[in-house]
Amino acid sequence: MAPKYLLCYLFFGLLQNVKCVKISVFPITLENELAAQNGLGWPSAINVAQGNEVLMKLLLSLENQNSCTVTDPRGFKFDISSPPSSKYQRWNDGCSVRVRNITFDDEGRWRLTASEGRKSITGWIEVTVLEKTNTYTAAPISLQDGETQTKVDLSSLDNAYCVVAKPFSESSLVSGKCSVTLDRTTRAVQGNWEIYLGLPGTVSEVQAKRHVTVQTEHLDVGYVRDTAHRLHLYCNILHTTKNITFCRFQRTSNPYGYNVIDGLSDGSHSYYGKGFALKQCGMTIEKPTSEDYGTWRCSVGVQMFVGTQIQQQTPMQALISVTPTLIRKEKNEDKPRTIFVQEDSSFTITCNSAISLSYCWFQHPNGTQFTPVKLVSEEQLFWYTGESLVVGHCGITFAHASSEDDGRWLCSMGPRSSLGLEMTDTVQVRVTGPLAANQKKVPVKIGGNATLYCHTANGRRPLKYCRFLSPKFVGMSIDSSITPENAVLNRYYFTPERELNFGDCSLSILTIEEDDVGAWTCAAVVDNEVFESRDTILVYINDQHRNYQFQASVIGLSVGLSGLVIVIIGVIAYRRAWLHHFYCTKKSTVPDEYALQRRAATSGSIQSSSSNE
Ligand SMILES: *[C@@H]1O[C@H](CO)[C@@H](O)[C@H](O)[C@H]1NC(C)=O
Ligand SMILES: *[C@@H]1O[C@H](CO)[C@@H](O)[C@H](O)[C@H]1NC(C)=O
Ligand SMILES: *[C@@H]1O[C@H](CO)[C@@H](O)[C@H](O)[C@H]1NC(C)=O
Repeated sequence: MAPKYLLCYLFFGLLQNVKCVKISVFPITLENELAAQNGLGWPSAINVAQGNEVLMKLLLSLENQNSCTVTDPRGFKFDISSPPSSKYQRWNDGCSVRVRNITFDDEGRWRLTASEGRKSITGWIEVTVLEKTNTYTAAPISLQDGETQTKVDLSSLDNAYCVVAKPFSESSLVSGKCSVTLDRTTRAVQGNWEIYLGLPGTVSEVQAKRHVTVQTEHLDVGYVRDTAHRLHLYCNILHTTKNITFCRFQRTSNPYGYNVIDGLSDGSHSYYGKGFALKQCGMTIEKPTSEDYGTWRCSVGVQMFVGTQIQQQTPMQALISVTPTLIRKEKNEDKPRTIFVQEDSSFTITCNSAISLSYCWFQHPNGTQFTPVKLVSEEQLFWYTGESLVVGHCGITFAHASSEDDGRWLCSMGPRSSLGLEMTDTVQVRVTGPLAANQKKVPVKIGGNATLYCHTANGRRPLKYCRFLSPKFVGMSIDSSITPENAVLNRYYFTPERELNFGDCSLSILTIEEDDVGAWTCAAVVDNEVFESRDTILVYINDQHRNYQFQASVIGLSVGLSGLVIVIIGVIAYRRAWLHHFYCTKKSTVPDEYALQRRAATSGSIQSSSSNE
């Protein structure tokens, strides 16, 4: 009945003179009928998630509507003015219904019929009930550090839009599929991303969290010892798109290394790992010697696609400490390395470590700190020098040396594998002319021998000649042809195994006489320099050296003695002899105390003389 009335109304509206009765007599196609009815229901179709509500109405209203009948998908009818439960309610003028707490039973075609006396109109609404989505969970997302234009898909749901908030940044609204494109992936995007999804059939947005991790390409290095006492070193690349082209292991104390190829062995050194294809690089040492328990450097050659081209990249390197020995302790503290630097020229200070570094810095004798940076411009005052921090190289080059740079420099190195205290080392810098005395003060004793050594600063450069002037103004010109056999005045000769060509100007004196004590001058013309360069060396008498030796032997004796005491204590037969020995030792310490005092006095005078200089 209802469809016929509806059609009547429509045709009544369009063609005033057509009567309903007439229409109902003529059969009409089902299609038209549906279209007509559907057009009156609002909304014509709706997706709704369980638990939500649906609002339905007729698009047209009758002027004097006296009933509004709702027919649910099961055919159950009621008038909206007397709903069977609180689930249903009128929500609008005209013919409308609000259906609360939608369940799957509510799915299907709902009809609304408004009547006004004999006239009535009907419309229907197609309701599709969807599963309720309270939460959305998905696996963590792993990204590659440094990648550009990475598209990150955040949801597989059929959402209309989403709002994405990355950690520490403003949220952004994305239409359609929930994905975000990162210009450049960095570790700053790591963490939980908050996402709000606009889903069909649900008013409240679904909140989701996606955990994002950013993987950085790096070498995983280490070693394994197995029960067969073999030593396996490994240096695998993690999180990379690069391919391995070669794999090399070198003991840092050796100039040569091992070219390790997967599947290859020479009987004592073999490939270790799961293959280059899995970015693994390792070496097995079948019978490690004690020398193998040291520091190894691994170098991994890599290539990657740049555009469509395969390009070789800088090899990745790392150090492996097989017996993790901490830094060469302050062994150098007593006698720091000295580097000789020519004023105004550039100079380099290096401090190397046996473990990989993440940074290093230097302290100037005046306390200013310098952290070496990459050389990028010609005007730069200082820059990093060395192969790379990961192989333990820490070096700094300054463009110009000034006399202020003279003194004790400190370098501090931050190990890569551990936090906490930095490693330190000291380097003595001597800013000199082109020719410099290796030792400015040389202690001698009368009748002893001595060597006065001058050499070029800033590395080895040839000398045009080499001459010395004694404190008594005896000048002599020497080179390696002057040997002990043909010594000048039978006492002065060129120090064997040194070379003018390698920048050495070195005088050895056989038996020191009084006349040799005082200020000596060495002089030479250094290759490429116009003027002669000189330096002075103070030769002074010092019997401290002898006293040192004497004292050392006494201490050695008494230490040896205490061991002896334990062994011998009960052996009465030797008792007398031992007591006699002990008495002698004690006696000999008396003059030694004198010597100590004298030495303190001597070193004090040296100090003052150096400050006078
Ligand atoms: C890396 O190796 C894979 C597998 O052998 C190959 O498909 C890919 O093209 C290689 N890429 C480069 C950059 O060499
Ligand atoms: C220390 O020396 C450096 C290099 O010569 C200089 O740049 C710096 O100003 C000096 N600092 C002080 C405190 O004198
Ligand atoms: C110099 O003297 C030391 C001991 O004082 C001695 O060991 C060395 O052999 C001497 N050198 C020469 C060249 O005579």
